[in-house]
Amino acid sequence: MNKAKRQAVIAGNWKMNKTRPEAKALIEELKPLVKDAGCGVVICVPYTNLEAALEATKGSNIKVGAENCHWAKSGAFTGEISADMLAEMGVEYVVIGHSERRQYFGETDQTVNQRVRAALDAGLKVILCVGELLEQREQGITEEICGMQTKVALGGVSKEELSRIIIAYEPVWAIGTGKTATADQADEVNGFIRSVVAKLYGDDAAQALTVQYGGSMNAKNAEELLGKEHVDGGLIGGASLKAEDFSVIVKAASK
Ligand code: PGA
Repeated sequence: MNKAKRQAVIAGNWKMNKTRPEAKALIEELKPLVKDAGCGVVICVPYTNLEAALEATKGSNIKVGAENCHWAKSGAFTGEISADMLAEMGVEYVVIGHSERRQYFGETDQTVNQRVRAALDAGLKVILCVGELLEQREQGITEEICGMQTKVALGGVSKEELSRIIIAYEPVWAIGTGKTATADQADEVNGFIRSVVAKLYGDDAAQALTVQYGGSMNAKNAEELLGKEHVDGGLIGGASLKAEDFSVIVKAASK
């Protein structure tokens, strides 16, 4: 299998942005712009916007995701949301292991793995984020870091379940900084992640895996990044908050 046969997916990661009325307005603006997309289109939104997003996207090609979930099914975890709660609402995707969760909220490879497990058990699709810090890239250990994050996160995940996982390579130094990895850098690490998955699950599973790039992907640089063999879509932060920009990226992925 090659790139042409893999499903490209463009996912917006809204982070902590948009009230409900703002969310509805953005989705209404987005719907006509992406209705003919030749790739998967997902918007991952704050918990408070999930219901509004599900309602507004009904009958459209836009899928809805959450930005995190807890690993337990239920219990005394004040302020947390379980994967079952998301699945029951009709949410299809969940972002797990985003570097902002790792940096600011104590997320570790082990808790990422537990959350992946919980999400899969609830029937959700996972957008699993991995990526190195700038110091790690400078030390020449990008592959070790991304390889380790990938392996630990996928612990206990079966080959069948892998089909519900997208991996997003997001170099931490490129997130929200305006500094994009070059298309070659993105391709190289995405390809490396695919090779790690091939060792764990075999070539066929690895070739079928959607591996996104994320980190300052925008309307201007998307086409070049998405043209690379191993870049099967993107996880888009800032540019997903503007319907026009996001739709340009979706069009670039549809080629
Ligand atoms: P950015 O964010 O596109 O704003 O860099 C990407 C992400 O954090 O997923």
